[in-house]
Amino acid sequence: MCGIIGYTGKLDALPIIMEGLQRMEYRGYDSAGVALIENGKLELRRSLGKIIELKKILENETFSAKTGLGHTRWATHGRPSEDNAHPHTDCKGKFVVVHNGIIENYYDLKQDLIKKGHVFKSETDTEVVAHLLEENHSGDLLKTVKKTVESLQGAYALGIMHIDDPETLIATCNASPLIIGKNGSGLFLASDITALLEHSKDLYFLENGEVCVLKNEKIEFFNSDLESIKKETTHIDWNPVMAQKQGYKHYMLKEIFEQPSAISETLMSRINWDDASIYLDEIEGFDEDFMKNISRIYLVACGTAWHACLVGKYLIEKRSPFIAHVDYSHEFRYRNPKVDDKTLMICVSQSGETADTIAALEEGKKRGAKILSICNVLGSTVARKSDGVLYTRAGPEISVASTKAFTTQLVSLFMISIYLGRISGTIDKAKGIKMLNDIVEIPDLLEKTLEMNNDLKKLAGRYIYKQDFLFLARGINYPIALEGALKLKEISYIHAEGYPAGEMKHGPIALIDQDMPVVILAPKNHLLDKTLTNLQEVKARGGETIVFCQDKSEVDKYNVDHIFEVPETIHDLTPIVMTIPMQLLAYHIADQRGTDLDQPRNLAKSVTVE
Ligand code: M6R
Repeated sequence: MCGIIGYTGKLDALPIIMEGLQRMEYRGYDSAGVALIENGKLELRRSLGKIIELKKILENETFSAKTGLGHTRWATHGRPSEDNAHPHTDCKGKFVVVHNGIIENYYDLKQDLIKKGHVFKSETDTEVVAHLLEENHSGDLLKTVKKTVESLQGAYALGIMHIDDPETLIATCNASPLIIGKNGSGLFLASDITALLEHSKDLYFLENGEVCVLKNEKIEFFNSDLESIKKETTHIDWNPVMAQKQGYKHYMLKEIFEQPSAISETLMSRINWDDASIYLDEIEGFDEDFMKNISRIYLVACGTAWHACLVGKYLIEKRSPFIAHVDYSHEFRYRNPKVDDKTLMICVSQSGETADTIAALEEGKKRGAKILSICNVLGSTVARKSDGVLYTRAGPEISVASTKAFTTQLVSLFMISIYLGRISGTIDKAKGIKMLNDIVEIPDLLEKTLEMNNDLKKLAGRYIYKQDFLFLARGINYPIALEGALKLKEISYIHAEGYPAGEMKHGPIALIDQDMPVVILAPKNHLLDKTLTNLQEVKARGGETIVFCQDKSEVDKYNVDHIFEVPETIHDLTPIVMTIPMQLLAYHIADQRGTDLDQPRNLAKSVTVE
């Protein structure tokens, strides 16, 4: 949610911190701030709004401090305001803290600190950390931090500095990501890989409870007992240019257009033509007996990744003998899921940092499940906690609205379904080869599908004043109707619902009139006639129909308002192709409404709170 960054080294800290904040702005953007220690004096600058507002405050100032901290916020405790913006300080203004996460016991801690005479300046949970540090300060910074975090409950990634030790940063975390990097010019901490890519590609991932001291060109790691530990770096082969807009108006549009190449990366070196199967090196550690004797599969995720899971269920149940259940991560962990040591849990997460999904994963693991995750971000918490990880290799996804992560998740689930079908014998070699041929065609088909961009841009103009939208589809494309509705609502703020087309007559049909645009996905398959019946039900009630099909001639006769053809592919791959026009339509409607669509209101890229 929030993004934190710290730098200490030979260079001026402020430009490095500002650049890092800009790269992490998608994590949260309601306020931002920086802290520097300049000639023994704390310089704190904070502003309400995006990083640009902070830049305005700083534009006429120069600082030569070589150490500093920065923060971009997604409000949890306390409304967005300058006072609630980080960094936060203690009563004397000696400790400086930036925080990502939630201190769950902050209220009790705060009351206790107030009784001891501490004066709070903000409504945030974070400020208690600064006052606790002050309260616990023994002169030894590391021990002070240890004592402080011992009383914290909840999730936190903390960057800490003290005015009397102006060249030192301390970092520690629990259930929130924190990444440490180093190059010839200095040492860095950040919530996110993208903030550090410019500086280093060999990064350390801090584990829960670990503490790190960044000082004098040296990084030292300690466990929660402050015993010195050694950590290995992970090499990240993302290129910093990948995290830039490259001439596109928005990251979202760039990421939509990157889907053919992203999917090629997902497939790369995973197609096993000899065995008509998939190389899933990621699950080599899984016992073959376990894979053949899976009792049930749980697919667990949130948001767009949850929609991918719904498609995954169709694929797995069609191609393998296994039963697949789909759960929202936050629902899974609070019910009593029937998990045993024969359960395979597939956790899907672009960021790998979604708190709900991490908690569900932990719950599943505790109950004995084997965890296979589908993640995009290397070394993320979900990836690290899993028994095996299938990386989608989509490259950095900056836009808050997920696009290329989704289609690469769909491809990953398609591959898993082939793998499961092959090991359990429900897919024979000939069928396997056919499926592999079909999936390797997908990047080219998506290139063709993207040619709809201009037509959808024109169409979008009709809808910029609409208040509601309905998205209908059947079977394996029903999750794409949900995804189309989610894309539209999160970036255009138009209310939208996705429904299985057969469900419309059970209630939503009451909403249909001439003001209701209805998007209908009607691929050529065994459900087409039924979908077309639903289309006529919409037409009969005056709804405006926008149909995406594979063969116009089958749909034309129904007097549809707008028809678009998408390229043909096999039934099970239509969700990938159908996703593209959903993304483009939402994008162009939002763009023409003038929303801040890469950073929609109230949202953040990775939701690291429950
Ligand atoms: O990083 P994750 O895939 O775990 O994120 C899950 C959801 O928060 C995410 O898909 C969200 O729904 C997106 N904003 C959708 O565009």
